[in-house]
Order: sequence, then structure tokens, then C-alpha cells
Amino acid sequence: MARNVVSLVVAGVLAAVLATDGIPAHAGDTARPVVGGLVAPQGKFPWAVRLSMGCGGALIEPRVVLTAGHCVDGTGRNDSILVTAGVADLTARGAQTARSERVVRAEGFVDETRGDDWAVIRLDRPLHLPTLRIAKEPVGDGRYVVMGWGQTREDSLQQEQRLHYAAVPVVPDAKCLEAYGKAGVKLVPDEQICAGLPGVDTCQGDSGGPMVGRGRRGEWVQVGIVSWGLGCARDGYPGVYTQLSTFRPAIKAAVRKLRQEPR
Ligand code: ARG
Repeated sequence: MARNVVSLVVAGVLAAVLATDGIPAHAGDTARPVVGGLVAPQGKFPWAVRLSMGCGGALIEPRVVLTAGHCVDGTGRNDSILVTAGVADLTARGAQTARSERVVRAEGFVDETRGDDWAVIRLDRPLHLPTLRIAKEPVGDGRYVVMGWGQTREDSLQQEQRLHYAAVPVVPDAKCLEAYGKAGVKLVPDEQICAGLPGVDTCQGDSGGPMVGRGRRGEWVQVGIVSWGLGCARDGYPGVYTQLSTFRPAIKAAVRKLRQEPR
């Protein structure tokens, strides 16, 4: 989320920790393009959606969007979220829009650093677009694609009109745990996947968007959700993504519940 109070507080605490460690709090504020700087052509990621609170999401059923838990207020009725879909350029003609009806957020969610960072949103109408499947198991060769309309730099404070994407290598749990441990954050390895390179990462406003890999038939499958990171694209601090293989059964159950729930 672009302006998420929890994120700001977490970032503030982390910045303070880093500053007292002698590492400048703005070590990442060099002009690096985040998310690799590649603009997605129309139709490449047809299930990627933009949410009005400043997050991303993925269409996993014609009427269901999967996003990050920290992008929503909680579980219950919710008609406040506007969904823009079917366009890589948000201002392009042919955008499909829908409104949220109901949200189910992961039960254990506290804040994005502590895992459980997912939520599903039921829309008021089906969108006529391809849907994205959630991977049962970790897929592929350890390189995934991430995307979003968020900041292209840690210090840019501007959202993008066009969808950007980048390929990011997975960073082993042990390495990521150690890095973030030094910054005073305890990761939850079974619930989070770390990925990125210095200079290549997601950033503020990309939250909730999908991290995808290739399934057995070469189709895109979702393996993660953009969750958080210390700054963006900083050396030694990869992006942290919700590990969907862990949550697939819970998400399926939440979608079933959403379908039954009245308006
Ligand atoms: N929490 C951010 C958001 O709300 C996502 C940040 C991802 N950061 C990163 N360095 N990968 O948009």
C-alpha cells in the first residue's frame, strides 16, 4: 500500500535501527530503477489488477482478487475498493472496473513482517479476463517475475501509470533471515519468500501484486504476493513475498466462504 501506517511505522523503526548501526538510513536512496524498469506490454499479464487504495492484486477467479493482507482493513463487508483490470496502462481505453463487496483477510494477520500477508476480495461483477492459478508447490528454477504500478525508486514517491515488471532470483531463507535479523526483524521462513537483486525489486505501491513462475505447461502460476522490504532494491535486503504454497488451502477455503457469503 502506498500510504500504509503499519509500513511507515515498521520502516521508521527499521530506519532507526539501521541508523544506530552506523548504516545510513537512506543507503538505498540512489537512483536505481526498481522492478527492473521494464514496461509491460498490453496483455502480457492479463490477470494483474490495480486496487484504488494503492495496491496491486491478481484475478484468481472472475469475481475474486488475491492481494496482500496489509492492503485491506480486515474481514467483512467492504464496498470501498475500486478495481481496474485488463489494462497495462491504467489510462488506456478498454479498462474493466469493478467494486469490492466483501473481503476475507488471513486470520492470523498482524502486520506484513509477521507472515499471513494475504486477503481475497469478492467483486460486484465478474471480469472478463484470464485468471491466475495459485501454484501448489514451489515451481521453476528459482527465478520469478514480479510486477506492479508502484514506485520505480525508493525515493520517487510516485505511482506509475504503466505496469512494470522484472525477473528476480529467490534468495535462500537462511541468507534472508540473517540479513533482516540484523535489522531487528524476525522473518517467518515458511510463510515468506525472499527474492531480488541489488537494483531489482518491487517497491511501495506494488504490494498485493503477484509474483509468478512458469507451470508445467509453460503457463504463468502465482507463487507469491508482494509483501514488504527494507527500502527498495537495497543491497542485502531483498523483497519479501507471501509464500503461497503454504497458504493455498487456506486461500481456497476463504474463496469458498466468500462465494457463499451474502452481499
Ligand atoms: N509494502 C509495500 C507496499 O505496500 C511493498 C513493498 C515491497 N518492498 C520491497 N522492497 N520489495 O506497496
